[in-house]
Formats: sequence, structure tokens, C-alpha cells
Amino acid sequence: MEAEKPAEGAAAEEFFALEGEIAEHDRRYYGEAAPIISDGAYDILLQRRRRLLAQHPELQKLATPRAVGDDRLEKFEKRPHRRPMLSLNNTYSKEELCQFIGRVERASGGPLTFAVEPKIDGAAVALLFRDGRLDYALTRGNGLEGDDITANVRTISGLPHKISNEAPNYLEVRGEVYVGREDFSLINDQREEGGLEPFANARNLAAGSLKLLNPKKAAERRLRFIAYELGEGDGIFDSHRQVLEALRRWNFPTNEFRMGEGADEVWQRILEFEALRRSYPFDTDGAVVKVDDRRLRDRLGSQATAPRWAIAYKFSPERAETVLEGIRLQVGRSGMLTPVAELRPVPLAGVTVRSATLHNADEIERLDLRIGDTVFLERAGEVIPAVVGVVLSERPPRATPYRYPDRCPACDGKLSRLTDEVAYRCLNPDCPPQIARRLVHFASKSSMDIASLGPQRIGQLIEAGLVQNFTDIFHLRLESLLSLSRTGKRSAQRLLEGLDEAKKRPLRRRLHGLGIPHVGMETAKTLALRWPSLKKLSACGEEELLSCEGIGKIVAASVQKFFQDDHNRRLADELKTLGLRTEEAPAAKAGPLAGKVFAITGTFSAFGREELKGRIEALGGSVRSALSRQVDLLLVGSAPGSKSIEAGRLEIPVISEAEIEEMLRERK
Ligand code: IVH
Repeated sequence: MEAEKPAEGAAAEEFFALEGEIAEHDRRYYGEAAPIISDGAYDILLQRRRRLLAQHPELQKLATPRAVGDDRLEKFEKRPHRRPMLSLNNTYSKEELCQFIGRVERASGGPLTFAVEPKIDGAAVALLFRDGRLDYALTRGNGLEGDDITANVRTISGLPHKISNEAPNYLEVRGEVYVGREDFSLINDQREEGGLEPFANARNLAAGSLKLLNPKKAAERRLRFIAYELGEGDGIFDSHRQVLEALRRWNFPTNEFRMGEGADEVWQRILEFEALRRSYPFDTDGAVVKVDDRRLRDRLGSQATAPRWAIAYKFSPERAETVLEGIRLQVGRSGMLTPVAELRPVPLAGVTVRSATLHNADEIERLDLRIGDTVFLERAGEVIPAVVGVVLSERPPRATPYRYPDRCPACDGKLSRLTDEVAYRCLNPDCPPQIARRLVHFASKSSMDIASLGPQRIGQLIEAGLVQNFTDIFHLRLESLLSLSRTGKRSAQRLLEGLDEAKKRPLRRRLHGLGIPHVGMETAKTLALRWPSLKKLSACGEEELLSCEGIGKIVAASVQKFFQDDHNRRLADELKTLGLRTEEAPAAKAGPLAGKVFAITGTFSAFGREELKGRIEALGGSVRSALSRQVDLLLVGSAPGSKSIEAGRLEIPVISEAEIEEMLRERK
């Protein structure tokens, strides 16, 4: 979610702190080749800096101009770059990538061809060749001058000794020095055998090795080089493609590259490289997208640290490391406490993760988590991110184990842990976050679907003392709503209309909305079909509940316990007096889709999940949440889950959104 725009003073303070933090990480990464945060976490700091500057342009005058990261060390001779050696703008988002493509296509006045290449995770160098032989080699330095690392570069195997006469006499080849994955493990094995600390990753090893004073030592690091650009000497080429082909002809190690026209094709190429990344002998952390036309490149020019004609799209890892900054306890609607890890933001599987679940108190103990720890995060598919381990070697010296509180952090109520539960619960039913979460669940799309009643509005209503429980919502009047801040007549009326609409929802939704533990939407439907009023259901004993097909012991006990509570029973009774529909509509047994069983995966552009389900059911079909041989058809939307693969195994036919749309239209 986008952070709110901070007030000016606060923004300046945050900006200063960020500048300091970024400068420190720059020094460690470029100067020492020993970063302490991941590239992803660093990129988020830069992104935050950019956002603050965009929101508060006045901060610009406080900003240290961004320069390319400075890798210069005193112990090396310096030499100027004949052309500035820049870095690349990077992004983790497809949207920003498309914006980049749109921008350059607009500048050129038409569709464009791009070269897409793997982004090698190493250290950039410039190699200067005179009359076909290596003259000297420089690191990027500060972009204007670099460290002379010629002796170390001469140890790199695979560089041409003499370039073909076809090449210009004076030639600057730019590319990446890296240590291959296999060599990296070999070197680390040897170090460990010799009792030395292993290197953290291949990129740091490559960058650090270029900065060794003794070339014999550098030779042991098995450095390699891949060429991807020309500096001086590029005048004879019209396209980047030609440059790469010439580099290959001149026997420079080069990478595979693929061409794409427009955003869709470029995106395809990126996905292809992402799929291929494990097959390369070196680490890649993304793909670089470059304008192919060299003349257009010249026209587009550069910003302070990066050219306007290229962008790096970084792959988002499925696993990441970051710092645990705190542990917050979240109170659920049934009082259950879930510990949530507050994390230094880090990109993971396509999103920026700021928090992750820790499941329960036992989990914290099992991982022996301490605030300040560096932790491993994982996020597989649609699952929410979770902390899966601790990097013990990075533990700060005085970190103490986390102590679970014995009172509720929200209301100071007593906590209890039932013998058969791993979770702690707050026993105070008036605990404010519990009330809020119960109401949010009641009003949510999958329950009563009350338009204009989202979490923020609910928070406001509770704070103003206007609602405490489900029934209060239906007592809301125009006058009281108008007394709320930021509430005009239109939005108040919309909410009242939303409430009127919600009164017509079938019983199953209300039952689901009550938030009875273990009663999800499917169970609510089963119960509502069998006991078509809350009054009848609340009067049921356990035996009777168990006699209903699909209702097991856990649900039966939970339903009974819920209605044994006077408070809950009163609320259920009262809901009826408020003009809410009390009955469940009988399921459409007949209809054009009668007897057809569907399952759904992915998202749909024309329908919400619940809506789609409702439409199928209205025509007599039914929808199952799990895939089994009983399912006749699987509806596949975009970004489908594992069900689409499972369907192949079970030989269940799949249909697309367009097909179901047609089916629903035809059989209206
Ligand atoms: S082109 C003007 N192509 O990524 C910059 N860079 O994060 C031209 N890199 O500084 C660079 N693979 O060290 C280019 N195929 C590739 C690359 C690549 C890795 C590095 C390079 C650059 C950094 C930016």
C-alpha cells in the first residue's frame, strides 16, 4: 500500500535519516564489497528516497546529488573514463518497465525494438584496447574516474589476447567481471577446509577480488568477464545488436540476447530469461532492456547516474533475507493473538514485504527469534510471507529472546491458552480490535457485502461510539453519519443504501458474517440450507447438528458454543427484528446448469469470485472449493493456482473466463 504523504517536518527528518543510511550502505557495498543488506532492501531505500522527493520537491535542496556508487580505494592508481561510466535505473515492477518503454517509444515517435539480456551479478569494468591489445582496465570508480586494476584483469581467462584487425584501433569494451557459481562453491570449500570464513556471495567475491593488490591472489579467484557494451570505438555501429555480434566475432565472451518489439514482447523475453536463469553458470539478478537503435540512444541521453535508453528489471526472489525490527501482536476477531513480524522492507516474489506471519508463540520459541535478528523469509505462490529461519551469524551481540506478554496488548485483558490450542486468546469480548475485526468480517464481500463499509469507516464508527456490534450498524441514521468527519451527504446516503441492500442477503451470508469459529462460507451454506432461520439453528443440540451431512464434530461444537452465549443469541434474535431477510432461498435445483459441478482458480476480470459462484448457483450448478473427480469443469482465470495443473492430472476439462461468460449469457 502507498504510504501517506508525511508532513513536511517529518519528511525532512526521514529524508535526512535515509540519506545517511543510503550513504553508509553505498560505502559498504561499493567501497568494501561487503554489504550488510540485500540488494532488494537497498533498492527499497532508494525508492523511498525517490518518493519523498516527488512528494516534497523542496527536499531537493537538502539532497546530496546521487552519484554512481563509488568503489575507488586509495591504494590504486586512478584514471579518467573517456566517457562517464554510468549505472542503470532498476525496477521490480512490470508497470514501471512498461512506463519506461512507453516513454522511449513516445520520444522516438513509434514502436521500437529492444535488446534484452541477462543482468549478470558481478562488478562493472571498462577494458581499454589499443591496437588490438589490452592497454589498461578500470573499475567504474565514481563514474568519472576508476581504479586501475589492469594487473588483476590480466588474470581473467577467456579474454582475447589480440583482437581482430576489423576492430577500431582504440576500443573500450565494457562488461561484467564475475565468479561463476561452481567456482564460487569450490573457492568456499577450499576456504572452509583451510579454516577461513566463506564468502557471502559471488558478487562480493568478484568485486573484492578485483581490488586485491597481489594479482597472484586475484588469479586464484577464477575471475571471468562478459562483454555487453562498447564505450569509445562504437561509432561504426547503428544498433546494439551489431555491437554484440561484433564483440562475439572479436572473441569476447558475450551473453545470449533476445530482441523484442514493444512492451508485450519485451515482457515475454524477460520471462524467458527468468526461466533460464538457473541454467547459466553465473548469478543473474534480472534482465537489462536496452534501446537497440544507437542514434536514438544518443538522442535520449542520460540522467545523473543512468542512461535514459536502458532499464534493469530485477527478478524478485522467492526467498529473501531482512531484519526483524519488531514483533506486533494482532488480535483477531475471536480474540486469538497472531504474532506478526515487522520487517525492514524487502522485495519478495513480486511484492514489497514489510510484515510476515510468525504463526504463534511456539513458532517464535522454536526459531528462537530476537529483535534485530536477520531472518529468512519465504513466500510461495499465493501464500502469505512467513519467517522460516534466522541467520545466527548475524545476530546482534545483545539481542535477548522475545517474551510473550501475559496480557492483551490492545486492552490489557487477560490472555489464556486453552490446552488444545497453540494460540493465546484475549478473553475480553469488548477488546476494541476484536470488535473492529468482527464488524469488518461481517461487512466484508464474502459475508454481508455492505457497500461503503470498509475497515476505515468501521474504525471511525467505533471511535465515534456509534457502533459496537452487528445490530448497531443497522440502526445508523443519516444525522449521526453526517456528524462524522470527512462525511458528506452523498457518502452517508450511499452507506445507508448499502445497508438496505445488505438486508436482502440470504441467511448463509449473515451466518458466515457472525464469525462463528470454523464456520466458513461453505459450512454456512450447508447450515442455512438445513436450518433456514437463525432461531432454528440456535436451538439445535449437538446431536441434531451432527445429523446434517457435511457437519462434523468441531463445527457442531463450535456452533453450539456460539449460541450458548447469551450475548450472541441476543444479537442473532435482534438481527431478525431489523427487517433483515430471515430465510435462505432454496437452492436452484433446476436450471440449465443443474447437476454441473464447478471449481474455480485464478481471478476474473468481469466477476468477483462470489459473484461468479452466485451466478452459477442461480442456474442450478454448484461450486466446490477443492478439486476432485466429482468436479465436472474447472474455471481458469488469470494467475491460476495449482488447481489448473491438478485438473490436467485428473483429466478435468478447463474453461476460460470468456467461455463461462458465454455459458452464463446463453443460459440466462
Ligand atoms: S549495460 C550505462 N548490461 O548492472 C550502463 N549492465 O545495476 C550500461 N550489468 O552497472 C550497463 N549485466 O554493472 C549492462 N547485460 C548488462 C549487464 C549490466 C549486468 C550491471 C552493470 C551495471 C549494473 C546496474
